[in-house]
Amino acid sequence: MPGRTLVTLAIDDLVRELERLPEEGFVEAARDVVHGRVLAPRSLEPYQFFSTRHYTRNLIFKNDLFELLALCWEPGQQSSVHNHRGQQCWMMMGLGRLENLNFRVHDRDEVARTCRLEPTSVIEITRDQAMSVDPDEPVHLIRNVEAWGERALSVHLYSRPFDTCEVYCPERGIYMDVQLSYWSTHGRPCAPGR
Ligand code: SIN
Repeated sequence: MPGRTLVTLAIDDLVRELERLPEEGFVEAARDVVHGRVLAPRSLEPYQFFSTRHYTRNLIFKNDLFELLALCWEPGQQSSVHNHRGQQCWMMMGLGRLENLNFRVHDRDEVARTCRLEPTSVIEITRDQAMSVDPDEPVHLIRNVEAWGERALSVHLYSRPFDTCEVYCPERGIYMDVQLSYWSTHGRPCAPGR
């Protein structure tokens, strides 16, 4: 939201602020919080787990209403094309920047699990420009552009939490359910050696 004054805060303070939001109207209030804050990078150090194999998903906080994750990206790493099971998602950068690519889904066949994807828009997510996933076009891919040559850490807020998503394979025109997992929870690795 251009022109808005951003407040810098530590990740623990962001958690406390989100915990105080009422369930009714959470989505609107959370969007305002995310777009009005900048995260203090040092407060994210406990959640920094980089892997050369894949970006890592690190749980910061979870309750029935929302889940907060830190995702750590080496240059060149990217997510699959995926959705969020109909849940809201917002992203803030703790370190570096990321690129988000949105897709429109056509000819979705729930039985054959096939569809066709049309790339629509590209958005850069930066420390002072958070992003809300568009509920009308929730299928997307995130990447840390290799040429930028720097690590990135993004903080993702989901409401409500979900632990599976649909992953799309644009080349083959198919999609499938995939179980999501964490690399660490509350600062402690839980998937060593992956
Ligand atoms: C993921 O959760 O692994 C992908 C990141 C996102 O779209 O929020």
